[in-house]
Amino acid sequence: MAGIYIHIPFCKQKCSYCNFHFSTNLSRKSEMLQAINREIELRASEIQKYTIETIYFGGGTPSVLTVDEMHSLISTLGGTVSLDQVVEVTMECNPDDLNPDYLQALLNETMVDRISIGIQSFHDPHLKMMNRAHNGAEAGQSLEQIFNAGFEKVTADLIFGLPDNDLSIWQSNLARLVEFPVSHISCYGLTIEPNTALKHVIDKGLIDMPDESAARDQFYMTQEFLASKGYEQYEISNFCLPGQYAVHNTNYWKQVPYIGIGPSAHSYNGRERRFNVANNSQYLSAINRGIDFWETELLSESDRYNEWILTGLRTKWGIDGSDAQQYSLNIREEFDDAVKKSIHAGWIEESDGALCLTKSGKVLADYVISSFFYV
Ligand SMILES: C[S@@+](CC[C@H](N)C(=O)[O-])C[C@H]1O[C@@H](n2cnc3c(N)ncnc32)[C@H](O)[C@@H]1O
Ligand code: SF4
Repeated sequence: MAGIYIHIPFCKQKCSYCNFHFSTNLSRKSEMLQAINREIELRASEIQKYTIETIYFGGGTPSVLTVDEMHSLISTLGGTVSLDQVVEVTMECNPDDLNPDYLQALLNETMVDRISIGIQSFHDPHLKMMNRAHNGAEAGQSLEQIFNAGFEKVTADLIFGLPDNDLSIWQSNLARLVEFPVSHISCYGLTIEPNTALKHVIDKGLIDMPDESAARDQFYMTQEFLASKGYEQYEISNFCLPGQYAVHNTNYWKQVPYIGIGPSAHSYNGRERRFNVANNSQYLSAINRGIDFWETELLSESDRYNEWILTGLRTKWGIDGSDAQQYSLNIREEFDDAVKKSIHAGWIEESDGALCLTKSGKVLADYVISSFFYV
């Protein structure tokens, strides 16, 4: 089994917090699609080693593509490998790109069956600060249109821990979102990323640094509120109605291989990681000239151990402690020590033979997980 990730490296405008790879110059969009189609063909033998279970269009902003363009990418994939076993085809969309005709055509004419919509907030001053291309009312309309078109698998992203975000605004965001029958919700704590407009204005003192304890309170509220609405927190940032897990992402956390296509996309085959160049011009020129546009990194034993901890502990399934036996003595000792300390501190508990984060462990997830790392 494997998943395929396709990165669409364009956005209409630059959100102030975001440092994912994208360009706002859409003039080379068709050329890029040809290059992405070409990469799929170039990697046919690698892709054909796997049964493909999921396809994920991420970005950037995949919804800058027309339905025909989406169709052409999926057709190239279908001409390369059987898509008969595919159970989920997700597309990240921005509210300002959506309209009823577009959504209907996506559902009827392509294999896309799951929409991931970037809401971030319904609160206009926050959307403005984030330089989003939509307001709160438009965010709500886009959700309405997605359900009216007939999509059943819908996930929405929200960001908490913003500067100047009090608990009541955050609660109203959650409450507004669950007015819609979204089967899945991702709530991300804001990270102030380098080289972003938000970092720049915070450094200049124009906006206050977000308050960590306010962000923690918002995270606690998210856990309580979404649980009361029937959503299960199955990964630190991800919540779903019973059984509605994101298959593509869950496979990623379970270390199932994936093939990443497009500029900046990563691939993983259990032994090695591959990183495509995160630069549109360099990617295009390398594909056109037939030269390499990626680097690979063979995973060391400690890399594999750290990834096992990082991906496993974030989920409700946790990690099976006996899997530590495959690592050498130094790593096992580090692991046993971290388990003891975290259980003692109340951050980790054993349940059904698996080690999982407790409720308080989830709040400190980054800290607890890094205490297990072997460096
Ligand atoms: C790859 S982005 C693209 C999604 C889509 N283009 C959009 O903007 O809705 C996926 C998600 O990452 C989250 N994200 C991006 N930058 C972030 C940051 N600095 N801190 C927290 N969440 C972030 C946002 O919630 C976003 O929806
Ligand atoms: S959040 Fe989405 S739309 Fe905004 S810059 Fe990042 S990828 Fe583009």
